[in-house]
Amino acid sequence: MDYVHQPLPSPIRSIRWICVSAALAVSTFLCADEPPENDVSDKREEIHLYMKGRYVYQRHCVECHGTTGRGNGPWAAELEVKPRNFRSGLFKFRTTAYGTLPVETDLRRTIRSGISGTAMPIFSQLHDEEVDALIVYLKNLSRAWKDPTLAASPISQPDPPEWLASPEERSPHAESGKARFSLLCSSCHGTSGKGDGEAGKGLIDAWGFPIAPAMLAAPHHKSGDSPRDLYRTISTGLNGTPMIGYAATLKEEEIWELVAWILEWQTAATTP
Ligand code: HEC
Ligand code: HEC
Repeated sequence: MDYVHQPLPSPIRSIRWICVSAALAVSTFLCADEPPENDVSDKREEIHLYMKGRYVYQRHCVECHGTTGRGNGPWAAELEVKPRNFRSGLFKFRTTAYGTLPVETDLRRTIRSGISGTAMPIFSQLHDEEVDALIVYLKNLSRAWKDPTLAASPISQPDPPEWLASPEERSPHAESGKARFSLLCSSCHGTSGKGDGEAGKGLIDAWGFPIAPAMLAAPHHKSGDSPRDLYRTISTGLNGTPMIGYAATLKEEEIWELVAWILEWQTAATTP
């Protein structure tokens, strides 16, 4: 089903929401004997979640992401890192390969944990059902979600190796990571991870905004600070940005060594 996104004045919106909820409640009651696998009831459940998601979105997300999800809400102009345009179907933070869509747990993680260093808040106060509904709503904002070639399953996110936990054992691995970093990453991120590499100057993202390579020698990172978070970003990359994924070109061990090197900076940044 195709949903039309027309901003309605809020009283009409609420009335429409109440009417749809009432209609759904009545029809659910009338059809209570139908088998649960039934297509019609699946569709009805989807519409219910969509309408709920739309309501939660209007309350918590429009100021930044905009009424029609184009990332152009009233607060967007003031923000240095622009809110995501959900119409583009491009998502940075994923467990899936570079260039593909995220899975639902990826969207849930972003909504629950926020994006450090940007205006994207942490929504811990929302109920699980509200987050599920938001996801259904977001997935109806772009046709990309209907394109089977963009769908993907998460790529393997292995447990951190034991050596990563001990600073002494980590050190030689971090040295290998340092060498690989100079080869593959410092052109953009700079040799000391300050985001000041030559190739990183004047970059533009897929939405037409300037983007700078991340400051890796900082204690906090956009999509989380844990070794697992760093592994995920390096292996899957960030869609819509020049930060590609290295899962296909680097071995698991090599990615962990890069993580070890970034952790050396983090340790230095947090030690007084
Ligand atoms: C105060 C502004 C603000 C509000 C309110 C806000 N966001 Fe965001 N959101 C952002 C910004 C800024 C980004 C982009 C961060 C980036 O590109 O690094 C973002 C990015 C996202 C992303 C994209 C993650 C990706 O993988 O690319 C999702 C999903 C998202 N927001 C969902 C929501 C939802 C759902 C709500 C409401 C419950 C919401 N946001 C409310 C500012 C906001
Ligand atoms: C062509 C330039 C370029 C190269 C090469 C590059 N990156 Fe990036 N990287 C970026 C940009 C730009 C961002 C910021 C994206 C954003 O803010 O949304 C980024 C972000 C990151 C992040 C996310 C930080 C955060 O805040 O969550 C990590 C981790 C990272 N890069 C690691 C690496 C590693 C490791 C390599 C080498 C294997 C590498 N990058 C190579 C451009 C590059």
